[in-house]
Amino acid sequence: MRRIAVVPGSFDPVTLGHLDVIERAAGLFDELHVLVVHNPAKTALLPITQRVSLLERSIRDAGLPGNVVVASWSVGLLVDYCVEVGASVLVKGIRSQIDVAYETPMAIVNRNLAAVETIFMLPDPAHAHVSSSLVRQVAGLGGDISPYVPPAVASYLQRSMV
Ligand code: PNS
Repeated sequence: MRRIAVVPGSFDPVTLGHLDVIERAAGLFDELHVLVVHNPAKTALLPITQRVSLLERSIRDAGLPGNVVVASWSVGLLVDYCVEVGASVLVKGIRSQIDVAYETPMAIVNRNLAAVETIFMLPDPAHAHVSSSLVRQVAGLGGDISPYVPPAVASYLQRSMV
């Protein structure tokens, strides 16, 4: 049986911390779906199609394995996507206890809804302080975001925010 997992997120934009988790998770599963999901609790900077295309480009540039696919999901529950593609695991990157507190109720609800398990992965501590919201803020104020994001994202945001 193929082991299929989903890494969901807003990816607005994808950061080096996300890429690190994606790369680690890709080594653990036969197929890894990186899923861009609209989060109504957040004000988006980039349209979903742009986030998908920056993810695809960043994953390709980083030379990640071919078992990683990028998709988006905007109708229904996250676990509906998991059922549709035969994924039994969600992978979430955890930077701190705050992330654990935020993710734990969702993990339990997703398991109750569709028997989809959640695995928490620790990124490289070098990325522990990096978040998309911080990147959006620094980019919006004209700062250098290149230490935090893949090169494709840095050049896209620096071009589009001038
Ligand atoms: O990168 P983010 O914004 O922290 O990602 C949050 C996301 C999109 C993974 C989260 O909002 C989510 O899981 N949304 C799916 C909606 C859903 O299915 N909710 C019900 C079960 S928790």
